[in-house]
Amino acid sequence: MTGDLSPIDTAKFVAASRACEFVENGMRVGLGTGSTAAWMVRCLGERLRRDGLKISGVPTSTRTAELARKVGIDVISLDEAKWLDLTIDGADEFDGEMNLIKGGGGALLQEKIVATASDRMIVITDVSKEVETLGAFPLPVEVIPFGWQTTKALIEETLVNMEVLGQDCSLRMNGDAPFVTDEGNHILDLHLKRIGNPRQMALVLNQIPGIVENGLFIDICDVVVIGHGDGRVETRDINAGTREESQLDVAVADNIFADITD
Ligand code: 5RP
Repeated sequence: MTGDLSPIDTAKFVAASRACEFVENGMRVGLGTGSTAAWMVRCLGERLRRDGLKISGVPTSTRTAELARKVGIDVISLDEAKWLDLTIDGADEFDGEMNLIKGGGGALLQEKIVATASDRMIVITDVSKEVETLGAFPLPVEVIPFGWQTTKALIEETLVNMEVLGQDCSLRMNGDAPFVTDEGNHILDLHLKRIGNPRQMALVLNQIPGIVENGLFIDICDVVVIGHGDGRVETRDINAGTREESQLDVAVADNIFADITD
């Protein structure tokens, strides 16, 4: 089966597997959403089975909750957990200061609440997500359905005065209907190409009525674990100022590869 893992899946798997080494017995762990996070949930399930690890998990979407239960993780709500030791999640882009764009999978609202309620956020990613300046990936913004077109017009008006290269704003669709988040909201994708001042952008967007949250994660991520297609994995810790590289054995993916669907 290992031979069947593409370089991109190998990169996601090794990043997820390395990040799971940060999880200790008894921890309350935030469980991210997306294909890389799905690997992480699988890896945690494997540690439960193999090492007898006991943890509680707070999922950031209904699909992660489903997968977590399937692999045997004790799933609790954020209100039950109140505060978390660690959140592990993917990202769509990250820069040199570990600022992120998230929400490609439409779960940014729960993801931001959960990551912010954690002592530490670890981002798991493949090397392609690293950028010098955020913004090539369209910035997801969650808006309430009521008056969303007015909210969109207000965003477009605001973007005129911001440090960006593009100003297109599109409603995310799911087939013929608008995409609906777990919270019953819609997503506007902002095609900004380059965000000159992500901190300012995050603050300004959240002042617009109708916006629930935006996908810029500023000063939230502590550690980024970057997987490569050949099994190498780099771990950068922004607080400790360290960078470590290791090589992971991808053969263990054999046990947990089946039915990864996210
Ligand atoms: C979901 C997210 C994901 O973490 C992000 O889209 C990355 O996903 P993937 O690991 O599938 O590339 O923010 O809302």
